[in-house]
Amino acid sequence: MSNKRPLILRAFDGESVERPPVWFMRQAGRYLPEYRAVRKGHTFLTMCHNPELATEVTLQPLRRYPLDAGIVFSDILLPLESMGSQLEYVPGTGPVIRNPVRTATDVAALKEFDPVRDLPATMETIRMCIEQADVPILGFAGAPFTMACYLIEGQGSRNWPQVKKLMMSEPALFGALLDRLADAVGDHLQAQVDAGAAAVQLFDTWAGALTPDDFRRWALPASRRALARVSGAPRLFFTKDSACFLPWLREIEADAYALDWRVDIDRAREILGDVPVQGNLDPQSLHAPHEEIRRRVHRVIEKAGPRGHIFNLGHGLTPDIPPEGVGAAIDAVRSWSWS
Ligand code: CP3
Repeated sequence: MSNKRPLILRAFDGESVERPPVWFMRQAGRYLPEYRAVRKGHTFLTMCHNPELATEVTLQPLRRYPLDAGIVFSDILLPLESMGSQLEYVPGTGPVIRNPVRTATDVAALKEFDPVRDLPATMETIRMCIEQADVPILGFAGAPFTMACYLIEGQGSRNWPQVKKLMMSEPALFGALLDRLADAVGDHLQAQVDAGAAAVQLFDTWAGALTPDDFRRWALPASRRALARVSGAPRLFFTKDSACFLPWLREIEADAYALDWRVDIDRAREILGDVPVQGNLDPQSLHAPHEEIRRRVHRVIEKAGPRGHIFNLGHGLTPDIPPEGVGAAIDAVRSWSWS
């Protein structure tokens, strides 16, 4: 293994591998007692802006489990703070922006985002993690549409009424906002690659709230614009509730696509064609008895096939998930052999 390329990079290249590489979205976080212990003394934002603390919590899951990659500890909403948002993480509510963007004046007032100047801690965390970990470190950002959701609505929402109101009543303004966000998150991903990230993932968590027509008109070209600014490492695109978008997903021109659990991974591969995929275990499976976890993990691997598959969940780990279930899933992936 020592002189071989890391398993995850071989899977991104579409090589046949003995077993899929495995990492989990939100693998650092509140389901881990060691995370809660660090978090007790600091706010979430303080941790994101402090390279020592961010490095510590990035490495925690890598010490506990034999994962094939780490993901830098940060949050998709940090660039919005640099652009002028008054961002807070409110227990029970999640992220809240006190000054949401709703008008042309609000859009014009957004500040330029320069990732190296504005988020030096993230780049420093990547460099420190690379020194201390023996697996590749991934970077990430929020996709333009998902960023626009928080920026306009001001907090998480089921139906995103303010977002859709602006999209439908002021399409030119909405388009200009997506363009600005696309350039910002594209530059943010490139800065993470320049700091050493082995691959980057763009999270379009809320694109599934759109109709297929609106997805193609707004979310898709904005993510393509963001990813077109990034080179030098594989670029993954994640969206939730994306089954009906599969026929057009490749137009985003990502290097790999991360799928949620509501889609059959074999069927998705047929539609997507020859491109690596990541996913797609239902995170709630990790509450199941370990034998059932193992059965479900193996079912995903079997359906995905031996080439170009990165094992992951269909969405992030949530605070209620037992760490033992996470361990059982990783063991099940590692015990698989295609030969
Ligand atoms: O995956 C990792 O381990 C890396 C870190 C990471 C976080 N957020 C840390 C975090 C990543 C990749 C994200 C991405 C993110 N953040 C997304 C896209 C992925 C997804 O899950 O859909 C979104 C939509 C956000 C915005 C955000 N940040 C939400 C909705 C929340 C949860 C609020 C809550 O209280 O449940 C956050 C906060 C957050 N981001 C936490 C962590 C570990 C919890 C903060 C805490 O300790 O209180």
